[in-house]
Amino acid sequence: MGELKGYIFDLDGVITDTAEYHYLGWKKLADEENMEFDREFNEKFRGVSRMECLDLLLEANNRKVTPEERKELAERKNNYYREYLKNISRDNLLDGIEEILNTLKDKGFKLAIASASKNTSIVVKKLGIKEMFDTISDGYSVKKSKPAPDLFLHTAEKLNLDPKECVVFEDAEAGVDAAIAANMTAVGIGPKKRVGHAHYRFDSVQDIELKKIMNN
Ligand code: BG6
Ligand code: MG
Repeated sequence: MGELKGYIFDLDGVITDTAEYHYLGWKKLADEENMEFDREFNEKFRGVSRMECLDLLLEANNRKVTPEERKELAERKNNYYREYLKNISRDNLLDGIEEILNTLKDKGFKLAIASASKNTSIVVKKLGIKEMFDTISDGYSVKKSKPAPDLFLHTAEKLNLDPKECVVFEDAEAGVDAAIAANMTAVGIGPKKRVGHAHYRFDSVQDIELKKIMNN
C-alpha cells in the first residue's frame, strides 16, 4: 500500500454514539405506525441515507405511501432524532476517539469527517470538535450515498489527496463497501458479520491500534 496521508472518519457510530439515537428515532416512528422494526433490522440502516432507511422500513412492512406521507414520516423520525441530539455534548464522544484524533493530528496527518447524515453540522457543533478537522463532508455533499464511493472520493479531493493515500474508519457495512470501492484503506469498527470485509477490523474504537494500520 502507498503512503497514508489522510484519515477519514464516519460520524455516527465511529466518533459518537448517535447511531443509538437513530435507532430510537426509527423505533418510535415504527411503533406509532404499527410497523415492525428491531435492532437486527436496524443494522441495515447504518451508513444509509434517511430516505433510503425509510424505504427499507416501508418495504419490509409492505406499506405503500404517497410522496407526501413519505416526506412526513421522514420528517417525524428526524424530529425525534433531533430531540435526542438536544442532550448531547463532548461527553458523547466514543471512548478512545479523542486520543486517536490527537495522535494523528500531532503526526501531521490530514483529518476529515465523511458522514451520510444531514445532521452532521449540528452533531459536530454539539461535540465541539469542528476545529480538529481539515474538512467535513455530509449528507448534502454528494448525490449518491454509501455504498457508492462518491462521498469518500469527494472528501479525498477536498483534502487534496489521492484515494490511495486515505484511510476510512467505518462502523457500517455500506461504509466499508464505499471505502473499498473508493480504493482506500478501510478500517471496520464492529463485529465481523458487519465489517469483516474491511482491510483492518477492531471490535470498538477503544480497540483501534493505529500502529497496525500505519505500519503496513
Ligand atoms: C448515517 C447513519 O450516518 O446517517 C444512518 O449511519 C442515518 O443510520 C444517516 O440514516 C442519515 O442521517 P440523517 O441525520 O440525515 O437522517
Ligand atoms: Mg456510522
